[in-house]
Amino acid sequence: MAGITSSIGRKYAMALSAIFLLIFLVMHLSVNLLSLFGQTAYNNASQFMGYNPLIQFLMQPILMVAVIFHFVMGFVLEIRNNKARPVKYAMNKGEANSTWMSRNMIITGLVILAFLGLHMYDFWYHEMNYKYIEGLPVEENRFWGDLHNKFGSIWRVILYIISFVLLGLHLAHGFQSSFQSIGARHPKYTPFIKAFGNWYSVLIPLGFIIIAIYHFVTQ
Ligand code: HEM
Repeated sequence: MAGITSSIGRKYAMALSAIFLLIFLVMHLSVNLLSLFGQTAYNNASQFMGYNPLIQFLMQPILMVAVIFHFVMGFVLEIRNNKARPVKYAMNKGEANSTWMSRNMIITGLVILAFLGLHMYDFWYHEMNYKYIEGLPVEENRFWGDLHNKFGSIWRVILYIISFVLLGLHLAHGFQSSFQSIGARHPKYTPFIKAFGNWYSVLIPLGFIIIAIYHFVTQ
């Protein structure tokens, strides 16, 4: 079995962290979409997510580790690839045989990293401060209003939307690439994985974009 210190092991671990994050994004979007259908549904879901010990003290740390691992490993793989291949492949004729998305995963990844910095400050830091630093009482109706107010600023909406578009580009290559790396290659299934990945990389960012715009225009 290839360990994490081997090249194949690293690619495999990278792909597993990616697939975990792909699943997280679906869950994250599903909860956030509730905010379009009324305050109660979103408040109840957020209250559950925010105060359930299993989610708070098991799932949340696992997610944080997965996010950090994914970024660190992304850089490690990029640096190693560049070292192994100081002169670009003669075969690699840029646009001719690779997509812009596949060649710029580090760039789109860095934009997502910067977005996460802002995003954690916007929501996560605020939440940690509320619960664990200030120790304020449970107030199950605060979540929808907090989210709604955040999107009152046009600049935040623009920054978020730019990030979601780049997230889409990152996913457009990342989805199918992660399945390839875990060896899901088959004449029958590969076209399906690619098509599913294309839909995923459009629909997930679009869902987030709709949420940001909805809260901005309904201020
Ligand atoms: C309109 C779009 C989005 C909204 C409204 C939104 C909203 C939120 C909210 C309310 C939290 C809760 C913080 C907490 O209670 O702990 C959160 C956490 C988080 N979001 Fe988002 N989010 C959006 C898009 C995204 C995207 C695109 C990503 C990933 C690229 C992302 C990644 C995260 C992560 C990693 C957390 C931390 C989860 C945790 O441990 O609590 N979010 N977001």
